[in-house]
Amino acid sequence: MRGRFITLEGIEGVGKTTQVATVRATLEALGRRFQVTREPGGTPLAEDIRALVLAPRAEAVPGSAELLLMFAARAVHVANLIEPTLTAGQDVVCDRFTDATYAYQGGGRGVPVSDVAALEAITHGGLQPDLTLLLDAPPALALQRAKRRSAADRFEAETLAFFERVRAAYLARANAEPHRFVVIDAAQPLAIVSAAVASAVQASVNAWTTETPS
Ligand code: TMP
Repeated sequence: MRGRFITLEGIEGVGKTTQVATVRATLEALGRRFQVTREPGGTPLAEDIRALVLAPRAEAVPGSAELLLMFAARAVHVANLIEPTLTAGQDVVCDRFTDATYAYQGGGRGVPVSDVAALEAITHGGLQPDLTLLLDAPPALALQRAKRRSAADRFEAETLAFFERVRAAYLARANAEPHRFVVIDAAQPLAIVSAAVASAVQASVNAWTTETPS
């Protein structure tokens, strides 16, 4: 039986890394076999592209170049890790996927949504996440946390207005695809956010198991 594809999304500082650990623990407790990965990245070549696209640099990086680099990394990741893992019957838990491109390059940079959709079709035609957990919090709060954590990469150095647009684009996608998204208020205390993530994963796994009994 094919594995299931779970993605986590949200702006920097919403606690995505912590919640990847919650998803991992929940799937382990449910006895699922899975791989955890991230975007951009997840394979040697895709991780090299990640380093290129995130590094701060003096030269301007057009939104179109960002878009192409994100999808170049994704094409490798889908072909070499995501698809083979799902086909082998294991779940894939991915820290960001194409919703991030709609949010950051589309919403944040203003790249036309039709360009994102065209590359999505080329890169992973029929493949869509089965469950997307969107950790949502106001950028003013989330960015405070992100700044405390690490030196800024090219995205973390962006303005509050940029992250407001990214957040709005994420929420618009969640509204358009309510069957796939679970939106979690990440401004709540950590224990409550973690409990919401665990229960969303449990509910989806239950539904999948009922749909396709083994
Ligand atoms: P991370 O810090 O959550 O690992 O993500 C790396 C950065 O890359 C983050 O600022 C969001 C950005 N990004 C995009 O702009 N477009 C994409 O398609 C993806 C996957 C990430």
